[in-house]
Amino acid sequence: MQILGIESSCDETGIALVDDRAGLKAHALYSQAALHSDYGGIVPELASRDHIRKTIPLIRRVLTDADTLPEAIDGVAYTAGPGLMGALLVGASIARSLAWAWRIPALGVHHMEGHLLSPMLEEPAPTAPFVALLVSGGHTLLVKVASVGRYQLLGQSLDDAAGEAFDKTAKLLGLGYPGGPALARLAENGDPKRFRFPRPMTDRPGLDFSFSGLKTFASNTLRRVAGDDQTRSDIARAFEDAVIETLSIKCRRALQTTRLSTLVIAGGVGANRRLRATLDSMGTALGAQVFYPRQEFCTDNGAMIAYAGLLRLQAGQQDDLSIYARPRWALTDLAQIT
Ligand code: KG4
Ligand code: ZN
Repeated sequence: MQILGIESSCDETGIALVDDRAGLKAHALYSQAALHSDYGGIVPELASRDHIRKTIPLIRRVLTDADTLPEAIDGVAYTAGPGLMGALLVGASIARSLAWAWRIPALGVHHMEGHLLSPMLEEPAPTAPFVALLVSGGHTLLVKVASVGRYQLLGQSLDDAAGEAFDKTAKLLGLGYPGGPALARLAENGDPKRFRFPRPMTDRPGLDFSFSGLKTFASNTLRRVAGDDQTRSDIARAFEDAVIETLSIKCRRALQTTRLSTLVIAGGVGANRRLRATLDSMGTALGAQVFYPRQEFCTDNGAMIAYAGLLRLQAGQQDDLSIYARPRWALTDLAQIT
């Protein structure tokens, strides 16, 4: 079975073709980062217009790269939510129309389920049950995965998502959008001992997060001291250390409370090199295995949507002829697959 995946929930147009036997056959990604960088953040209307321009040419490119004709495609999976309404509608309308024209099923995929399943595109792939830490620009979730489609929310951010905190703090430090990778680069030259930021909500039980205070802490620190390059690096390092240690403490707690020994990390912040190293050592100390998608599939991409769609379409699920777009959609509302 071959599934075409379309991701358009935010500022990346991602297209991929996944085969149940051959795996990922081809994928293409167009990032709108340069388009939005002048504005310091995503402009939803510009995002929608750019998805309209890029989706069809990227689908053509993926089919050419995979040497595949439309007749060989068995289904179209698209991100139905959560995300920006206009951006979602572009992918949903194109996916639904292609599926109708090609007389094949279409299925709206949950963006965070795509992230959650993305490590399964790698070798070795994790197997359920496991704990998943999903750290993206819009969400920070700790999820217990009993099986594919059976998700229990263990904890979430009560305010800013981890990626959002990276982006906002990066902006304070004068870095462009998206801020996460730029802040991580700046932190490389930072002195880890100069400032110590709090580890929010780690001194009380539970698995929820709160990251918005770290941005305020960074802003107050910056106001107090000279804003030279070294200081900005030192603040970036202290901020990154605080986020990483907080995530690591909560992941350890989640593994201990669920008594599971597999941890899956996904979402844009999962691309952070120092986060990966810290979670690897935490896993080793606990005797747990830690899985990630390859770095380029941590951030938004079409492969994860095609793969999640493949699992659901294989299980016989499909949508009716409606065009589904849900800006808000709880992961725990999904139907079980296996
Ligand atoms: O998953 P994603 O591509 O989009 C959403 O679903 O939101 O995540 C994007 C987020 C952004 O906030 C970006 O700054 C952050 O992931 N990010 C990083 C890194 N790479 C991307 N944050 C920290 N370190 C990185 N290396
Ligand atoms: Zn995402």
